[in-house]
Amino acid sequence: MAILVCGGAGYIGSHTVKELVSTYEVVVLDNLTTGFEHLIDERADFVKGDLGDRAILDEIFTTHSIDAVFHFAANSLVGESVENPLKYYRNNVSATLVLLEKMIEHGVKRFIFSSTAATYGIPDTDVITEETSTNPINPYGRSKLMIEQILADIACVHDFQYIVLRYFNAAGAHESGEIGESHDPESHLIPIVLQHLMGQRDKISVFGTDYNTSDGTCVRDYIHITDLARAHILSYEGMANGKIANKTYNLGNGAGYSVNEIIDTCQQVSGKQATVEYAPRRAGDPATLVASSNKITDALGWTPVYDLQAIIGSAWAWHSK
Ligand code: UFG
Repeated sequence: MAILVCGGAGYIGSHTVKELVSTYEVVVLDNLTTGFEHLIDERADFVKGDLGDRAILDEIFTTHSIDAVFHFAANSLVGESVENPLKYYRNNVSATLVLLEKMIEHGVKRFIFSSTAATYGIPDTDVITEETSTNPINPYGRSKLMIEQILADIACVHDFQYIVLRYFNAAGAHESGEIGESHDPESHLIPIVLQHLMGQRDKISVFGTDYNTSDGTCVRDYIHITDLARAHILSYEGMANGKIANKTYNLGNGAGYSVNEIIDTCQQVSGKQATVEYAPRRAGDPATLVASSNKITDALGWTPVYDLQAIIGSAWAWHSK
């Protein structure tokens, strides 16, 4: 039995593939619009194509015995989603519907879905649980929540099970040093700070200093990419063993760090000094997003291994290679 990883050439997908291939046969489907072929572990089969391409999905589902689909393929930039909502509804919602239709048609019953803390919008609590109300404030978050709702409807009437994983801020690089975080263009805080410290950018802009947080900058919950990858595999195995089905879990470290604290830690880890410019707020940024991940710990025994120092240490090791 094999696992189909949609978006396996992207940052989170490729790290999960690297963890999967030691135990499972893996097929990666990716159109390489935001992913990179060199990130895909060579032990996986790679099919270049679109998620919404029915013929490619028919081919994969008939030539491989697929037991589950891990679905990472999506556009994930909040700001871009505000400017180009149709792109997000087309790629994140419509294309996923094609994938789900083809799974049902071919009798593929297990689905692990990459969702996001952006489904919560501006939460009314300091620590977000899965019971915190979902009020996304941008098309990206809405596109993910729509699929979550569609999955619940499908599971009521089809022989189909799913797990939704709501990621907080994924960061860090694989321990092997072979793969890490690279987006083009890069918009994420930790890689931007590290690129600056390596001399690849003139300065860092801090977006907003007047938030209601300890130092006025936004607070986020950073989680190591390998901790995320392990949660996917545990979720799949929990579903395959009949332990869990049709659940939603947060994935974070349960600790919040401000933008200034991230820059400080990057300076400590690298031993270099940053040039920081304070800039206006970026549209669509909630002040604080911190997860409670107790639900998945209770269900599957998952706990994050990497703390902030280790997350940034792994990212620095990869960037400075
Ligand atoms: N930031 C800066 N300067 C930068 C880049 C980022 O100050 O150059 C700030 C942002 O304004 C934000 C924080 O750093 O306050 C983190 O920003 P990121 O862009 O690294 O991450 P986000 O929190 O915006 O978003 C990430 C994912 C989303 C996901 C969200 C869920 O990119 O897909 O986490 O928490 F929805």
